[in-house]
Amino acid sequence: MKKINRAKNKKLWVVIIIFICFYLYVSNNWIQNTRYNISSDKIDKSIRIVHLSDLHGKQFGKGNRRLIKNIMKEEPEIIVFTGDLIDAYRNTNIKESVQFLEQLSHFAPVYYIRGNHEYNTSRYQELMNYLNEVQGDLYILDGGYQNIKLKGNNFSILGLDRSKKGVMDNFLSEKGYKIILNHYSENFSENDNLSRLNVDLVLTGHAHGGQWRLPIVGGVYSPGQGFNPKYYQGINEDNGSIQVISRGLGNSIFPFRICNRPEVITIIIE
Ligand SMILES: [Fe+2]
Repeated sequence: MKKINRAKNKKLWVVIIIFICFYLYVSNNWIQNTRYNISSDKIDKSIRIVHLSDLHGKQFGKGNRRLIKNIMKEEPEIIVFTGDLIDAYRNTNIKESVQFLEQLSHFAPVYYIRGNHEYNTSRYQELMNYLNEVQGDLYILDGGYQNIKLKGNNFSILGLDRSKKGVMDNFLSEKGYKIILNHYSENFSENDNLSRLNVDLVLTGHAHGGQWRLPIVGGVYSPGQGFNPKYYQGINEDNGSIQVISRGLGNSIFPFRICNRPEVITIIIE
């Protein structure tokens, strides 16, 4: 009798372990698409922007094929990447990650800012060399901004890279739809208080969706905000500006997500 029970218990444990492994695989590898619709009287024809962040060197299939396919299906006019393309400490994958941006840039213009991991890696120069060799439409916004025309609409996109704010006054006097890319979601309403600048849209990452998203509790931990973070995902509005926070795609020192699948965001401005 005891032997039968032991065999049953063993089987149950095997099932539980398989379930946990599968669940962790899904939580970390099945891409989730999130779409936000934003209306603006500065826009005549609707524009689709894909917002990516925090890849941390992760690969979704060989050559990131699965991720690229997912993004292409969204048919964006532009793609933005808000920092931490590579990881400073593990799975750095510089070449593969830059190739990923390069492939995207053949499909739509890519606007990229660096996050803390780009600056923290001891291979910073190697990363910059690869980025500077990219042959596509990849723009590294290093505290500067670009005016672009999409379907007749005027956009200005500024990349806040560390604290270079020299061009901010010029940027703020632009008349089109203004977008700021900033790695840190907590800078919107606190710290730099970007929401006070009266720009239309601020796109951020860094928070990794709180790493674990537990029912009722929400996001558990985000770098820069600690436990119980306030700005870890979603869309919020402050002073008339809208912030969209990406939960990101990969992981850093803490190696897995729970209830927090890798996210590709599409923002439709209309
Ligand atoms: Fe990150």
